[in-house]
Amino acid sequence: MKTRLGILASGRGSNMRSLVEACQNNELDAEVTILISNNADSPALSFAKDQGINTAHMSSITHPNPAELDQAMLNKLKEARVELVILAGFMKKIGQHTLAAYQGRIINVHPSLLPKYGGQGMFGMRVHEAVIDNHETETGVTIHLVDGEYDQGAVLAQEIVKVEQNDDAATLAARVLAVEHCLYKETIQKILEGSIILP
Ligand code: GAR
Repeated sequence: MKTRLGILASGRGSNMRSLVEACQNNELDAEVTILISNNADSPALSFAKDQGINTAHMSSITHPNPAELDQAMLNKLKEARVELVILAGFMKKIGQHTLAAYQGRIINVHPSLLPKYGGQGMFGMRVHEAVIDNHETETGVTIHLVDGEYDQGAVLAQEIVKVEQNDDAATLAARVLAVEHCLYKETIQKILEGSIILP
């Protein structure tokens, strides 16, 4: 039986695309049963629609009350019988109801070696800019469980990426992103096979 994944994505959606393709190629023993985006114009949402994946735009525009947004998101995930929630470039906090219902079943990818370069306001290119500004010699990718705080849940996997002398934030981001795609896939498959055991 394939595990039912729900993916949450805000923007470009390259991690989401890589996971959808991995499901289609049977690299992942899973299927994506819903894609939720807080951004109606996101490439993530249009890609998922084109693939015939069930999609929903859910944000403070569709649900101005945060508690209602949380409940509506949880209802959508349940309707799609989602077993594992995957954040793939999703830049919003998950609501309390959704967190409680999927405790230990929500995972995220972050483009640094957490706890370094994590927390509120530290996402996407901002992470790579900070790494370059601080003259770090290495950075990397973290896959972690999601709890109520930004980037603080238990780490499931990490991989180091070296910072080259001539790197700028853009060249570094591109190398880190390629590692994200591989490590996310591998980590999810380990969860599905039971070689990574969620709490
Ligand atoms: C990725 O680099 C992801 O790690 C990062 O946003 C990018 C989304 O790219 N996420 C965070 O910074 C979360 N705190 P994508 O939309 O192409 O997958």
